[in-house]
Amino acid sequence: MRRKLVVGNWKMHGSRPANAELLAAILGARPFQGDVAVCVPFPYLAETAATLAGSDVRWGGQDCSAHDQGAYTGEVSAGMLAECGCRYVIVGHSERRAYHAETDALVAAKAQAALAKGVTPIVCVGETLAQREAGETEAVVKRQLSAVIHQLAHCAGEMVVAYEPVWAIGTGRTATPEQAQHVHAVLRAQLHAATGHGDKMRILYGGSVKADNAATLFAQPDIDGGLIGGAALKAADFIAICRAAR
Ligand code: 13P
Repeated sequence: MRRKLVVGNWKMHGSRPANAELLAAILGARPFQGDVAVCVPFPYLAETAATLAGSDVRWGGQDCSAHDQGAYTGEVSAGMLAECGCRYVIVGHSERRAYHAETDALVAAKAQAALAKGVTPIVCVGETLAQREAGETEAVVKRQLSAVIHQLAHCAGEMVVAYEPVWAIGTGRTATPEQAQHVHAVLRAQLHAATGHGDKMRILYGGSVKADNAATLFAQPDIDGGLIGGAALKAADFIAICRAAR
């Protein structure tokens, strides 16, 4: 039985007062049946850690460097995230792939760097609208995941995977539960073939998850929770989504 996981990806949003209000609301809404985490901008990690410490709500970063340390201006290492108490780090988000030219190989190296420091990578995969319309969805997500599986080798079973169709992110256009389930089943089969325990690994869905569609998505057999963007910034919406994960 896989425990559900809901992760808020705040992206480049937030302010100290808004964060304090949001985190207080999340803490006050516990207990949740599944696991809950927030991935916040780097400057807010220490404060988030102080606020959430001692609770069962986890926190994480939205990216990390593939390098341990060195002259990489602007980058943040997985070791630094670990020092800030991060349980998770998102790697390979489609916004990083698109705006920062991240390749499958770089995403895989980041996932490996995270695991080496004890931080669980949430590895994002997903097709663009053009790729979906060209019938390439399965090939694209399998290629993206395969790069990470090969890099992580015997540790591949420790990652969390997030299926985020690019056309569903921030558009209000959610994948139907059937569309999402189909891809999740493909990814699970791939994970199972590689690790032997794909049935124990969590595969999250992301892309316009809202309070009113979360329960139906999370009821699909291979959807183990969500990676939430816009709706993670509004306490009532995020809490409703966390409650839908059981
Ligand atoms: P939205 O929930 O805003 O569509 O964003 C999804 C996402 O990119 C989470 O990582």
